[in-house]
Amino acid sequence: MDATASAVIHRDLQHVYPTIVRGEGIYLYDADGNRYIDGSGGSAAVTAIGHGVPEIVAAMTEQASRVAYAPTHAFTTEAVEACAQLIVEEFAPPGFGNVWFVSGGSEAADNAVKMAVQYHRERGEGTRRLIIGRWQSFHGATIAALAFGGNAGRRRPYDAILPHAEHIPPCNPYRCWANHACPTCDLSCADALERTIRQVGPENVAAFIAEPVVGATMGAVPATPGYFARIREICDRYGVLFIADEVMTGFGRTGRNFGIEHWGVTPDLITCAKGISAGYTPLGAVLARPEFVSEISRRGHSFVIGHTSSGNPLSCAVGTAVLRYIRDRDLVANAAAVGAYFLGRLRALQDRHPMVGDARGLGLLCGVEFVQNRATKRPFPPDWRVSKRVAAATLARGLISYPGSGTVDGVAGDHLLYAPPLTISHEQIDDLVAILDESLTAVAADLARDGRGAL
Ligand SMILES: Cc1ncc(COP(=O)(O)O)c(C=O)c1O
Repeated sequence: MDATASAVIHRDLQHVYPTIVRGEGIYLYDADGNRYIDGSGGSAAVTAIGHGVPEIVAAMTEQASRVAYAPTHAFTTEAVEACAQLIVEEFAPPGFGNVWFVSGGSEAADNAVKMAVQYHRERGEGTRRLIIGRWQSFHGATIAALAFGGNAGRRRPYDAILPHAEHIPPCNPYRCWANHACPTCDLSCADALERTIRQVGPENVAAFIAEPVVGATMGAVPATPGYFARIREICDRYGVLFIADEVMTGFGRTGRNFGIEHWGVTPDLITCAKGISAGYTPLGAVLARPEFVSEISRRGHSFVIGHTSSGNPLSCAVGTAVLRYIRDRDLVANAAAVGAYFLGRLRALQDRHPMVGDARGLGLLCGVEFVQNRATKRPFPPDWRVSKRVAAATLARGLISYPGSGTVDGVAGDHLLYAPPLTISHEQIDDLVAILDESLTAVAADLARDGRGAL
């Protein structure tokens, strides 16, 4: 089939995609019978419990046969109530007693900042409208989420229509923007938040948003120890709300229920999606504390937010079934244990492949960053498309990787992100790493053959 034969607008209009016909556990199968390890967990960090889990199919079927959709302007459903209850009782950090459901991570980010702005307005601080994000972060593809996100490549085509937002440098121990040695530094990357708040005026700032482990844009970079405690202090000092974007890191991915727990810090709002329904249906959420919600409700008001599919019963029934599955099989602990093993294996690969400049991650959210020169950390020229080449090499060998570029500064840099199902075993990690190992050898040889220097 040629690419124009499909009626679908695919992500890459020039590419002919294999057709996936079945999934089971950590594997996907295409129409030609090829098997792939779902190393990226979808696009990415989605398929938290693996494919084809009968309990989820049963929950979906049961809910769909009772009621798949009910209008939220007039009703609630058992499905939405049960999912919220399970999240606040068994997953959310202490004090998070309320859940607003949406359809995905971008919507969660948009809704969280709207809630933050409204919160300030209701408290008589209507000038607090500005959102501060970080360069090299990703919070979604909607116009608003792109604006406070810091993914240069995805922002650039729409720069002219993005609403104003401020950005501070990322916290990246491998490539500190201030050239400090993490983690023995003075956390100047966190202090940049204070500087920015003071520059724009605290009375204008509504919220700061950050991913605890930067996923898509940097390739699984956890913030340095102490970073989020400093961020929390700064936010408190200036009355700025802290939104933790846990769309990738939520629900066990990093070996704790929520990624921010590794830093012992409590945000004001948490956005989540992906793992919450593990790809079986679209679902996202904003988690809030009752004190936050009561700032609106005690004045007799409501949040001015809402989507047709907010609180969709089918998605919430799936969410409940997925979260029970994660809880009952202790998959958060598995993510911690197997994730540590995975990172060790990736670091061993780094020793053997000069093009792997860094291997990092937390739990089962891991990444490798490619460099042309390990001593100077010089990235490959962007037009060599190294991450795409390595991802294509792994795919041809039966491993799905999630390639990213612009890792260094939004333009240069290459990485692969891995976020396999939390059910993955040590042996399956060995299979994944073996394919990556072979693919790195093959791509290094290709680059050398192309006259692009021995690697
Ligand atoms: C950290 C983070 N936030 C938000 C999003 C956007 O989520 P969605 O694609 O479900 O809208 C993503 C997607 O990759 C993400 O990684």
